[in-house]
Amino acid sequence: MRVFVAGASGAIGIRLVPQLVDQGHQVIGTFRSPGNAERVRALGAEAIALDLLDARAVRKAVLETEPEAIVHQATALADVRISRNLDRSFAPTNRLRTEGTDALLAAGREAGVRRFVAQSFASFRYAREGGPVKTEDDPLDPTPVAGARETNAAMRYLDQAVTDAGGIALRYGGFYGAANDGLVGPVRKRHFPIVGNGGGISSFIHLDDAAAATVLALEHYGAGIYNIVDDEPAPVREWLPVLASALGAKPPRHVPRWLARLVAGEGAVMMGTESRGASNAKAKRELGWSLRYPSWRQGFVAAYASTSPTGRTQGSSAR
Ligand SMILES: NC(=O)c1ccc[n+]([C@@H]2O[C@H](COP(=O)([O-])OP(=O)(O)OC[C@H]3O[C@@H](n4cnc5c(N)ncnc54)[C@H](OP(=O)(O)O)[C@@H]3O)[C@@H](O)[C@H]2O)c1
Repeated sequence: MRVFVAGASGAIGIRLVPQLVDQGHQVIGTFRSPGNAERVRALGAEAIALDLLDARAVRKAVLETEPEAIVHQATALADVRISRNLDRSFAPTNRLRTEGTDALLAAGREAGVRRFVAQSFASFRYAREGGPVKTEDDPLDPTPVAGARETNAAMRYLDQAVTDAGGIALRYGGFYGAANDGLVGPVRKRHFPIVGNGGGISSFIHLDDAAAATVLALEHYGAGIYNIVDDEPAPVREWLPVLASALGAKPPRHVPRWLARLVAGEGAVMMGTESRGASNAKAKRELGWSLRYPSWRQGFVAAYASTSPTGRTQGSSAR
């Protein structure tokens, strides 16, 4: 298949393109930052510079390259400063999830593209009630915390627009598996504490497993939403000490909810104490997906051991 990967130079894109090439697909990979063309080419793709927020350029690129499938992996999260107001930090990404998705869907429709797969997110989105682990059929949080409403709305928009168009939205867990993963710096510096009882549930996914699920989704018929997460959704109080240890960092600090609310905002309290995890049963069953890193327990060690100050073992590929 000719596959158009929007965001081929990003954290997931650079894992996805080689897996697609290995499966015999021809890949057109887009990048945004000048200088990333060579990086995309080296992965085995035809490289094109593209701003997804320029709908005319998107139309032109898709019509000219005549893909059979489109994968939307564009976000704008590199070097983003996560502030108390998540919507401010995520504003450019929210536009990529709404306007960018619309532009790709419109271009794909005009070009007769048959398959569409887009990046969505599983963590911190399900309703904060009932059991700890949620399926795709469970309700999303009807009242996201202040400062995260636009971000939640953008992800809902993407899920709906993509599935209405017959495509697949992949709700990935928290990515890890590269040396520059977002949690690495804060955990090393002990800036990421256990809040309250640390009972908020997180779902993670190794980037290599996320890419493998994406390849399978492209080969799958029918619209749908899939949680792409590992087998072990877990409370922060369990996974954070394991991550700190894998990074060779000191154990995380504990802070009470009131202090976390004051310093980091309501979103941090929600993630640390109330959020729910996601189930991967549907993706395994319907996509035939199996994981190389079924749990963050072995995944964190594989990803980070070689980067820790003590450098105990060789880790997996780092970006
Ligand atoms: N599920 C998750 O946990 C999750 C999801 C996404 C990202 N992240 C994390 O966030 C960090 C940054 O992610 P990242 O390295 O993938 O960088 P990123 O800045 O989010 O970029 C992702 C991709 O989107 C492209 N892009 C950015 N703006 C664009 C635009 N206006 N039009 C078209 N394409 C655009 C980028 O191109 P250029 O690279 O050429 O600029 C890149 O190919 C990583 O640590 C990653 O793991 C986590």
